[in-house]
Amino acid sequence: QANERESMYLVSEFANKYFQKILHKTDAGQAIGLSYFKERGFTNETIKKFELGYCLDDWDAFTKEALAEGYKLDYLEKTGLSIVKGERQFDRFKGRVMFPIHSMSGRVLGFGGRILTSDKKAAKYLNSPESEIYHKSKVLYGISYAKQAIAKEDNCYLVEGYTDVIQFHQSGVENVVSSSGTALTTEQIRLISRLTKNITVLFDGDAAGIRASLRGIDLILEQGMNVKVCTFPEGEDPDSFARQKSEDQLKEFLAENATDFISFKASLLMKDAKNDPVKKAALIRDMVSSIAKIPDTIQQEVYLQECSRIMDISEDVLFSTLAQLTKKGE
Ligand code: CTP
Ligand code: MN
Ligand code: MN
Ligand code: MN
Ligand code: MN
Repeated sequence: QANERESMYLVSEFANKYFQKILHKTDAGQAIGLSYFKERGFTNETIKKFELGYCLDDWDAFTKEALAEGYKLDYLEKTGLSIVKGERQFDRFKGRVMFPIHSMSGRVLGFGGRILTSDKKAAKYLNSPESEIYHKSKVLYGISYAKQAIAKEDNCYLVEGYTDVIQFHQSGVENVVSSSGTALTTEQIRLISRLTKNITVLFDGDAAGIRASLRGIDLILEQGMNVKVCTFPEGEDPDSFARQKSEDQLKEFLAENATDFISFKASLLMKDAKNDPVKKAALIRDMVSSIAKIPDTIQQEVYLQECSRIMDISEDVLFSTLAQLTKKGE
């Protein structure tokens, strides 16, 4: 079992080197992959730092080379790098630019591959399948690059995508990781909590993104961590925003727009409820249920007082709602 995992790490590391070699050293890699990254505003230094690569638009060029180098088809298949159909083998990431995903200690666990065409039928990103070395619920993209900065800044920015992480680094903000489009898990939060108790969630500037993230945030509160949120202007994500700003402007924006989560959620819900009392009652329960997740009772009290102010409802009502919820939860 341990041997099998080791073999899977080795073939993943080989693939990582291979995809980088293709990107930098072949005509197709330079013309298609490298120029794609350059158009996105990534510098050579950034491309090298994040070990970005390219998988040729060929059915099996990678698989063939891996086999010729002595890597076993079994491990190519188990890591999902190759897809085996009967007697034939295919490269999973054919024609995609490659983002290797590293563990906390920097081992390659898997890949995300972005399509370059605007083919609406194909997924924009294709990721390595779950395997013995890649458990997407336990991985945070960028953690090996960010760990020191997270500890030093005593804060971790959480973004949606690979390119958000990369562009932030290039803009001088290195305490950033991504859950890579999946709903945040407790295991991911625990990885961060080893480094800091403060998380700032950065949403893409679309309402869907914000709502989906609210659930993940309750999980962060449950771990006893402090959560701030920051939204970007409509239509922007952290990557596109950072690209337009200088390092100072980006840092200033983050500092000025990070809002404590509880106040953020209370204001957001109030906008929804307006003057509908039935809706408002449901939203108050929703709000208090977030607060009920916080392990520290003093912190709970401070937040209830703040909600009382924002939502214009008496503290007594909020406290008794909290008491009810806590009882039910037992
Ligand atoms: N994602 C995925 N599969 C998809 C779409 C998205 O795995 N079909 C994940 C990727 O990790 C992606 C993240 O969700 O980085 C956020 O998605 P999105 O905001 O749509 O992509 P961006 O990261 O902004 O990518 P790009 O700027 O390249 O369009
Ligand atoms: Mn590496
Ligand atoms: Mn998005
Ligand atoms: Mn995005
Ligand atoms: Mn983007």
